[in-house]
Amino acid sequence: MREAKFELKDVTLKRPGRNAAGEITTAVILNRITTSFPRGEITAVLGPSGSGKSSLLRLLNRLEDPASGQIILDGDDLRDLDIFTLRRRVGMVWQLPTLFPGTVLENITYGPRLRGIAPAQARARAGELILMVGLATDLLERPADSLSIGQQQRVSLARTLANDPEVLLLDEPTSALDPTAAANILHLMVDLKSRLGLTLIFVTHILDQARQVADAILFIHHGEVVEAAPARGFFTAPRDPRSQLFLAGQLGG
Ligand SMILES: Nc1ncnc2c1ncn2[C@@H]1O[C@H](COP(=O)(O)OP(=O)(O)O)[C@@H](O)[C@H]1O
Ligand SMILES: [Mg+2]
Repeated sequence: MREAKFELKDVTLKRPGRNAAGEITTAVILNRITTSFPRGEITAVLGPSGSGKSSLLRLLNRLEDPASGQIILDGDDLRDLDIFTLRRRVGMVWQLPTLFPGTVLENITYGPRLRGIAPAQARARAGELILMVGLATDLLERPADSLSIGQQQRVSLARTLANDPEVLLLDEPTSALDPTAAANILHLMVDLKSRLGLTLIFVTHILDQARQVADAILFIHHGEVVEAAPARGFFTAPRDPRSQLFLAGQLGG
């Protein structure tokens, strides 16, 4: 049995909404999700648009909290963890690079400086991280917005890695990138798993990307888990009829 990094037990997420008549209602975004994410593996979260993939990620570093159920990280209920520590342990990479005006170095060292790491030490670490994400150290002095989007996305990753996370949440991290830059990010994800032992949870709507990097698949539809399976089994012999339709490109949101 593979060890779970994250466990979700009967997790339901609701949000206020309005129905067609304009009355305030409660929408169930995720419905009684019970699943786990294996430690040290890449899990791809798949499902049609609107199925709740991004919402699920938001629960894992407490950008939102569920209405009911329990989320457990390494045996601890998320609600019992200090939120800043949690967000350091569970880093997030978004669709678009999340850099602020300033140099690449300032961006990468921001988190460590806030934690009181000495500037020289933070700088040395930034030099290691920029190489780890496949960029040259002379980019450190450049304004972040002078880099290509693909480079900026790698700097965003380096910035997240500067917090020494155990888990990376990636929400369609390649969707703004050209194919080469996208391939670089995918390679980097596999590299981070093997070199640092990170657990990666990767939302994508591109099946080929999941085929390429995922060890495990979590397939959700209308806020419910349809299938959680090792990637090979999911792609070669999906068990649920909805998985079969999805793989055939025939399942709508
Ligand atoms: N900010 C929001 N407020 C209320 N409902 C939202 C919000 N964002 C998304 N939703 C709804 O939540 C559901 C799941 O959305 P999301 O998690 O973004 O799906 P996915 O990432 O799979 O496309 C959808 O029905 C969507 O309309
Ligand atoms: Mg989404």
